[in-house]
Amino acid sequence: KYEKIWLTFGIACLFVFLTVIGVSAFAEGKQPPSCLTTIDPEKVDQTPPFNKPGLVKTGDNEYQLNIVVSAFAFTPNQIEIPKGAKVTINVTSKDVIHGFEVAGTNINMMVEPGYINTITKTFNQTGEYTILCNEYCGAGHHMMTGRIKVV
Ligand code: CUA
Repeated sequence: KYEKIWLTFGIACLFVFLTVIGVSAFAEGKQPPSCLTTIDPEKVDQTPPFNKPGLVKTGDNEYQLNIVVSAFAFTPNQIEIPKGAKVTINVTSKDVIHGFEVAGTNINMMVEPGYINTITKTFNQTGEYTILCNEYCGAGHHMMTGRIKVV
C-alpha cells in the first residue's frame, strides 16, 4: 500500500520536473533550433538561400540573413542590420560542425554540414554584436568571429 503512494509521488515529481523544464525553455526562448532542411554541403553556394549570402530583404521590415560557415570563417562576417528589422538567420556548414552564437542575445545554434539551421530574431536596439563559433572545430577555431551592426 505504501509502495503505491511512493510510486505515485515519484511519478508526480517527474511530471513537475518535465513541466518546469518545458516552461522555462519556452519562457526564455531557448528551444533548440530546428534542423529539418537538408542541403548538399558541396553545393552550398549554388543552393538557396545560400546563393544569396548576407542580408536579403524579403518583405516590409523583414529580412533573411544567410551565412555560410566553414573552417575558419563566417561568410559574410560583417553585417549591417536596420534597427527594428525582423531577421531570419539561416546557417549551414561546408565542412565540420561549428557554432553560431551572437554574444548578448539568445541566438546560439549548432551549424552542421548537410543541414540548414534557422532562427528568427527582431533587432530592436542599435549596437554591435559579436558572432562567435562556440563549437571546437580545429586549429583556427578561436579566429572564427564576425560582427553584426544594428544601425
Ligand atoms: Cu568553427 Cu569553432
